[in-house]
Amino acid sequence: MADRDGSKEAKKFYEDIPAENYGFFLKGASSLDWGMKNRLSRIFNPKTGKTLMLAIDHGYFQGPTTGLERIDLNIVPLMPYADALMLTRGILRTTVPPTLTKPIVMRCSGGPSILKELSDEHLAVDIEDAIRMNVAAITLQVFIGGEFESRSIHNMTRLVDMGLKYGIPTMAVTAVGKDMVRDARYFRLACRMCAELGAQIIKTYYVPEGFETVTSSCPVPIVMAGGKKIPEMDALTMAYNAVQEGAAGVDMGRNIFQSDSPKAMMRAVANIIHEGASPDEAYELYETMKNQKVAK
Ligand code: R5P
Repeated sequence: MADRDGSKEAKKFYEDIPAENYGFFLKGASSLDWGMKNRLSRIFNPKTGKTLMLAIDHGYFQGPTTGLERIDLNIVPLMPYADALMLTRGILRTTVPPTLTKPIVMRCSGGPSILKELSDEHLAVDIEDAIRMNVAAITLQVFIGGEFESRSIHNMTRLVDMGLKYGIPTMAVTAVGKDMVRDARYFRLACRMCAELGAQIIKTYYVPEGFETVTSSCPVPIVMAGGKKIPEMDALTMAYNAVQEGAAGVDMGRNIFQSDSPKAMMRAVANIIHEGASPDEAYELYETMKNQKVAK
């Protein structure tokens, strides 16, 4: 019988003991092939082991999201400040200059709009097209506990299999349905399932209580999703806490492109991720850059 109580708080997560990396800088990646490791090394900075990924794929289910109405005008100028970009093939082909050499994490699931049941997704990209576009990783939503949970897992395992065939890592995004409890217990379940079933990177949400048990019980790198726009200082504090508690960086969207100064916010988040700045130091950098208007 399934161990429904498998997430008992009494479990030992040894949050203070880092996982053994066996000679490769990234958690859980030592046994992967050269191409896969090379792509991961483009997404995650090998010096810090972390990434600042900019998520701008929201349009695949919610259309022209606030801040993403004109990606050519508002987002392309931000791209040089990111370590990696998460987007759809439509935006990549139409709007991103091919001279940009930043690693692309390409959205490969889709189907329902915000008007329908979001977990009803299918794979929406051929692996050949991902290869044609020279992507560094492929990504999709996984809806643990959602109405179409099983299909979304099957989408993921198919994507992982295709990625393994060509040396392209898969990032699973743990989507949370509106009725689900966003706590460490849920995210431990979702992240661990995605990793056990083959994803090489997991994107998940931060929780103030027990996030370190989510990262420590997940055998692959976790990047923190940003979520709804919150004040800049709060977003910087959340990114700082996530990294302190074991995240290998962030994949943020709205908290960057809906900020008063997106470029200043990018620089401030990077300061936390790669330089170990405190939230106060990063916020000071944000304010300075914003007020200098170097980065509107
Ligand atoms: C969610 O469905 C997409 O993967 C988004 O790209 C991402 O999770 C949203 O980013 P943020 O919550 O930081 O705006």
